[in-house]
Amino acid sequence: MKNTVVTFQEAKEKGEKLSMLTAYDYSTAKLVDEAGINSILVGDSLGMTMLGYENTLSVTMEDMIHHTAAVTRGAKNALVVADMPFMSYQTSVYDAVVNAGRLIKEGGAQAVKLEGGKEFCEHIRAIVNASIPVVAHLGLTPQSINAFGGFKVQGKGQAQAQKLLDEAKAVQEAGAFAVVLECVPEKLAAHITKTLAIPTIGIGAGAGCDGQVLVYQDMLGLFSDFKPKFVKCFGNIGEAMKEAFRNYDNEVKAGTFPAAEHTFKIDDTIIDKLY
Ligand code: KIV
Repeated sequence: MKNTVVTFQEAKEKGEKLSMLTAYDYSTAKLVDEAGINSILVGDSLGMTMLGYENTLSVTMEDMIHHTAAVTRGAKNALVVADMPFMSYQTSVYDAVVNAGRLIKEGGAQAVKLEGGKEFCEHIRAIVNASIPVVAHLGLTPQSINAFGGFKVQGKGQAQAQKLLDEAKAVQEAGAFAVVLECVPEKLAAHITKTLAIPTIGIGAGAGCDGQVLVYQDMLGLFSDFKPKFVKCFGNIGEAMKEAFRNYDNEVKAGTFPAAEHTFKIDDTIIDKLY
């Protein structure tokens, strides 16, 4: 069954948890989809995990469209959400609608995600008015890394906690159908979750959220540049891959790969007649 914004709303109403994982290519999207994950996020985290940048700031609309189109070709049932990259919506409400539209038309996504609260409610409203579903993203918003001065847990003080709750209410009111809460204290995330009518999707925000999202390379041990506290490794695929690469290298160098079963045959008489 295809997951839609209605699936998200129904899950919230029934108290059923939602699963979301990132994917950035066709083959991974197919695996995530076949595993029954509700939603695939084509995150701008691809800047680090796929392109080797230090942060998400260099990711372009073209990068996002390229990877989103690959993912949507592989995802049959998961709701595909594409991230709006840095400076694709901050510049104006007009840019926000045009670029959200490109992720839907050219990328084939079913929804977009953008970082920020009250200051972007007008943008969210305009995108939703264009019939494009929006996921908001609050708490640690990596596109603001220079403003935050690093990756830090958000909403810890009284005023900051109140601000985060107010932002969550504001993006809901602006029409977002879900909100990602990143690096938010568990009890605050649970309180926001109880207050909102739309689902919260947590990453580093505890089990009280309506759903969870992780970067797939993090949960498979495929990305070793840094490991946030909130990541759980669900399979050491990075080590398994390295082992397979080593075995391949050894067999190529020993001349044991390819073996007979990996080769194509030809009649000996043809070879004999070559001159
Ligand atoms: O870009 C991304 O992968 C994200 C998640 C970390 C929520 O925004």
